[in-house]
Amino acid sequence: MATNQLMIMPLLLLIFLLHIASVASSYLQRGFYSNTCPEAEFIVRDVMKKALIREPRSVASVMRFQFHDCFVNGCDASMLLDDTPTMLGEKLALSNINSLRSFEVVDEVKEALEKACPGVVSCADIIIMASRDAVALTGGPYWEVRLGRLDSLTANQEDSNNIMPSPRANASALIDLFHKYNLSVKDLVALSGSHSIGQGRCFSIIFRLYNQSGTGKPDPAIDPEYRKVLNKLCPLDGDQEVTGNLDATPVVFDNQYFKDLVSGRGFLNSDQTLFTFPETRKFVKLYSRHQNEFFEAFVEGMLKMGDLQSGRPGEVRRNCRVVNARRTHLLLESPNIMENQHVAII
Ligand code: HEM
Ligand SMILES: *[C@@H]1O[C@H](CO)[C@@H](O)[C@H](O)[C@H]1NC(C)=O
Ligand SMILES: *[C@@H]1O[C@H](CO)[C@@H](O)[C@H](O)[C@H]1NC(C)=O
Ligand SMILES: *[C@@H]1O[C@H](CO)[C@@H](O)[C@H](O)[C@H]1NC(C)=O
Repeated sequence: MATNQLMIMPLLLLIFLLHIASVASSYLQRGFYSNTCPEAEFIVRDVMKKALIREPRSVASVMRFQFHDCFVNGCDASMLLDDTPTMLGEKLALSNINSLRSFEVVDEVKEALEKACPGVVSCADIIIMASRDAVALTGGPYWEVRLGRLDSLTANQEDSNNIMPSPRANASALIDLFHKYNLSVKDLVALSGSHSIGQGRCFSIIFRLYNQSGTGKPDPAIDPEYRKVLNKLCPLDGDQEVTGNLDATPVVFDNQYFKDLVSGRGFLNSDQTLFTFPETRKFVKLYSRHQNEFFEAFVEGMLKMGDLQSGRPGEVRRNCRVVNARRTHLLLESPNIMENQHVAII
């Protein structure tokens, strides 16, 4: 008996390792849930529609998740995990704390999906579908998304702190960051156009209003009239949680954001810098004149960003905020990732 078990262990280990390897190259495809959960995309869309009606900003807030999820160890919904006594999650990371919001919309989507097809649709895929829908529902382009991601088994606050860019960043630093993900200068500018919807806090711009780069002066790139508006919204000793619109049409996904940048009316330093720097300015100008060019480049950028993967083992979480409960012994379920079975975990 004992000898048999000893002999089978290396085999099990091998199967386990092969299985993990198949996660590493987890293949994303359109219509991934067409057999296992044919209503999935419709269900996501439906909840997003309701969220948009309830609170227009919430869909922008959810769309932002794709960026904060995919840049930190791939699109694996690690960002949705709550802290546990043994794990500091990403929700309280520098760029996320008091800033990421509308997690309840994802919870609502997940609940609806669990009712229709329990244990099938990953939270990582929910973020991708919901982000697409946020854009389409606010007047932006629609695109087919590739699906089949798995949810992470952990989150990493430190990685988020180290990776996510500050609103103070200049275009040169942003170009370098995006380059690390094989995202081009064009992708950077187009994806920044996501700030066509949503809001930001005074906290994120106070430095550029009163002390840009430690000069004791405002950012000279801000249009003087717009600066008056921002100074009024965000006085030096005011409440830094007050929010302002990221562009002049914050509930419509359009190219107004780029028009605003051309006229010095970008909200964040990281926005306005795209017009200040020559490498990015040409794309800002192009998109300010041609909305269709912006939409096309944006879709391409979202697809590329959505393909970032960690290569780590994963699962389909039942609740996007917590990893599934583990059994203590080796579990070997059908190792067919294409059918989205659970990953074997020791
Ligand atoms: C290029 C580098 C980027 C920087 C430095 C940046 C930074 C920020 C900051 C500072 C805010 C406001 C947060 C606050 O004040 O609480 C914000 C909001 C937002 N960001 Fe970005 N962002 C970047 C790229 C992106 C990308 C690629 C996306 C999505 C594709 C995105 C989507 C959003 C959305 C939709 C909001 C509004 C969220 C809301 O209203 O709740 N951002 N971003
Ligand atoms: C851009 O920001 C980086 C990092 O903060 C800094 O080292 C660099 O000098 C800045 N570049 C320019 C041209 O201002
Ligand atoms: C970027 O592309 C290179 C070459 O195709 C590849 O080796 C690398 O893994 C990619 N990096 C990311 C973050 O996708
Ligand atoms: C502006 O920032 C610099 C560098 O961070 C700091 O030394 C200086 O005291 C600040 N000035 C004001 C007026 O806050």
